[in-house]
Amino acid sequence: MNRFHTRVIPVDLNCTDSRVLKEAGEIIKSGELVAFPTETVYGLGANALDASAVEKIFIAKGRPSNNPLIVHVATVEAAKQLTSSWPKIADDLAAVFWPGPLTLILNKAAKIPDIVTAGGSTVGIRIPAHPVAISLIQAAEVPIAAPSANQSEQLSPTRASHVLKSLDGKIGLILDGGPASGGLESTVLDLSKEIPRILRPGLITPQQIEKVIGELQRSKNDRHDDHSASLPSPGMLLRHYAPQAKLEIRISSSLDRVVELINAGKRVGWLTFNQNHQAVYGSDIISMPLFPEEYARKLFASLHDLDARECEYIIVDAPPDGEGWDAIRDRISRAAYIRE
Ligand code: TXA
Ligand code: MG
Repeated sequence: MNRFHTRVIPVDLNCTDSRVLKEAGEIIKSGELVAFPTETVYGLGANALDASAVEKIFIAKGRPSNNPLIVHVATVEAAKQLTSSWPKIADDLAAVFWPGPLTLILNKAAKIPDIVTAGGSTVGIRIPAHPVAISLIQAAEVPIAAPSANQSEQLSPTRASHVLKSLDGKIGLILDGGPASGGLESTVLDLSKEIPRILRPGLITPQQIEKVIGELQRSKNDRHDDHSASLPSPGMLLRHYAPQAKLEIRISSSLDRVVELINAGKRVGWLTFNQNHQAVYGSDIISMPLFPEEYARKLFASLHDLDARECEYIIVDAPPDGEGWDAIRDRISRAAYIRE
């Protein structure tokens, strides 16, 4: 049922103290939701200190209640106030990566409602590097809990139009700040245990983090297909970030597979590193960049695009090895997983 007429309002990135942002801040204060741009993906925000406001996020997204939310703040001081302990390593990381796409998991302060942390004793916090996100937090005068602004398990939104497609009628306001420059979510780094550990690969690479805090613990088995409440990071569920189309990753012979599907009468999208296949086989071919930062920026937008063209299949050339591609491999392998 549609409760809202969803407004999409463009926001000028150079004029972030506008009337629109003041109104958006008031909406957050009043306990309602606002979708807003960040440098990673669009977020769906609510006052992080208001349990009934945060509950509306879970309802709008159809998000399982065991999946905790990231809280967005504008200053390191505000971040500290959301924690019960603040290790020196958090200062070191904040100094290098904030504002930016690194979420730190720390022991939470008592004032954070349980619904934000899925009942857990830790909270994820970051300072987003986006003028609209920062202005919204300042206008609201509260920390803002925000997951990606999409229906649970579906593709993350990198444009206001993606948010509208996924949440039309479920939220009142989307601030349109244009395409997200990063295109993939933040790296989630757990600092609440003795040894720091990456729970979700993202735009900040393990090597970048290691330059600041030394060697990270690596685990071969950072995958969780168990839907139980005790997941270290429940967003790590196997089925996630999924387009409507069936997505297949091909290490080799992707062209053969594309031709086979076309011959079988299927509409096929293809994310390929080959720059010469464009339009040859009449399928929807997208040439993907060879640098991970550029690939990340294009990935979700391309999958949204192929879904909009109603492709039944999306073939994806497997990305190269190397930790720089970790987050991309993570997202496409979850998008490819088909639940039995
Ligand atoms: O870039 C981003 O991180 C975007 C923008 C909007 O900031 N947000 C985002 O939120 O991706 P979401 O809810 O789609 O993903 C948050 C991830 C999930 O995997 C969640 O399980 C994990 O962070 N997470 C949040 N709080 C946590 C906690 N206390 N302990 C462990 N994992 C946590
Ligand atoms: Mg998400």
